[in-house]
Amino acid sequence: MGSGYSGTATRPVPYLRGTFPFGCAREMRADPLGLLLRARADLGDLVKMHLGPYPIYMLFRPEHVEHVLQKNPANYLKDGYEHLEPMVGHGLISSEGELWRRQRRLIQPAFHKKRLDGMARTMTDATEATLDRWRERLRAGDDVLDANAEMSRLTLEIVGRALFGSALGGEASRGEEALSLVFRLGFDRAGRFLQIPFGVPTPKNLRYRRGIRDMDEIVRSMLEARRDAGPSNGEDPMGGDLLDMLLAAHETGNGEGISEKQLRDEVLTIMGAGYETTARTLCWTFYLLDRHPEAARGLRDELGHILGGRTPTVEDLPRLPYTRMVLQESMRLFPPVWGLSRRLKETDRVDGARIPRGNRVIISAYVTHRHPDLWPEPERFDPERFRDATLMDRPPRDMPRYAYFPFSGGPRGCVGVNFAAMEAALVLATVAQSFTLSVAPGHHIKPEPSFTLRPSNGLPVKLHEIA
Ligand code: HEM
Repeated sequence: MGSGYSGTATRPVPYLRGTFPFGCAREMRADPLGLLLRARADLGDLVKMHLGPYPIYMLFRPEHVEHVLQKNPANYLKDGYEHLEPMVGHGLISSEGELWRRQRRLIQPAFHKKRLDGMARTMTDATEATLDRWRERLRAGDDVLDANAEMSRLTLEIVGRALFGSALGGEASRGEEALSLVFRLGFDRAGRFLQIPFGVPTPKNLRYRRGIRDMDEIVRSMLEARRDAGPSNGEDPMGGDLLDMLLAAHETGNGEGISEKQLRDEVLTIMGAGYETTARTLCWTFYLLDRHPEAARGLRDELGHILGGRTPTVEDLPRLPYTRMVLQESMRLFPPVWGLSRRLKETDRVDGARIPRGNRVIISAYVTHRHPDLWPEPERFDPERFRDATLMDRPPRDMPRYAYFPFSGGPRGCVGVNFAAMEAALVLATVAQSFTLSVAPGHHIKPEPSFTLRPSNGLPVKLHEIA
């Protein structure tokens, strides 16, 4: 038995009753956020339920989260990614053990600070191009757009250009549609405990397969173009971008190289993991700024004072604390990755409770970020909470480390955290100096938990250009 952090006594775990024979499966499909919040409020910080025949333990305290992610991560296997297997295969986000370790070692250096600094310009250029497109629309008399779709297209374009040296152009739209479809259908599968195999040609499976085909085509032409053109940085592939590094690892002659399939899996994994999350963060931030004019004013004041209308650079970021605080508070209330699921390799003890091997645990940033013992008036949007935080992925200084974990943590924490932190701040600072986005009147916004937390019917906004 693995060792938990709180002694050897075993305590009973409060049980959330559902309906026989489905347990809480129906509610988990219909309203997972409501279910998790209710479980914590009614039954406490460690609660058990069943989804059909499967027992699930919900762990809500920062100490529980730390145990799973940081103290005993080898015992908590990734869970749920099998539903995205046709897309991400055995890429970094879904692999385990030695394969994961090797791939992480290969990919991590692409996100080192020096390389990231060189990507800032790509990020602001892509944002400026988006704003030019918005201005054209305004001139044509079209002042309403879907901020959710716009941010998705922009962040996919940024990942494409910054990591794979590929201007996706028109492909960014097609890629975004295909990826978003695949994610949605993958999540839909994850929520059902009986699944029709991928091979069966149901209408959903056919749509899923079409989405994968589109993505495969985009990746194939990206790889072909780079192979024809050679490394992005002349002779030294390890000095180039992520695509150079992956291709070099593929082409290495010593038999240890990664396969063509692994190469494709990694490209699709990074694209998938790297765009929707940041897009959601930006989208929810625009929504919150529209609802909280005093925060919008604070942001505009800081940007005006420090940047005075010019495009932000990476050197500006430490001088834009309020921009960081707004983004952090936005990710507290609307963490793009709202829940993580893990399967126990061996029986373990968590906070005095025994959790048998093979069972699943869920941890949820959405719920822990609203824990009333940790966050006073948890539903209130207040960027000031993060005044004395320093890094985008950490809680305020006096709080437990895992009171705030939008990027997860420990060895399987987000590899793109610094990329995302820089990108979100640069995009927000660039957009907010030129436009305010006000949510279209009468549009009801509801968070819809898919793999990422999205606004259920997009985020239609009216554009106002700042003179
Ligand atoms: C606001 C933006 C982002 C958020 C909130 C976020 C959040 C997360 C979270 C919670 C995980 C853990 C997933 C799990 O345990 O199942 C994760 C992992 C990962 N993220 Fe991010 N992410 C963001 C941006 C990015 C970007 C920009 C990239 C790449 C360009 C990226 C690439 C990855 C990868 C490859 C993993 C898997 C790492 C591993 O297992 O070793 N993410 N991210």
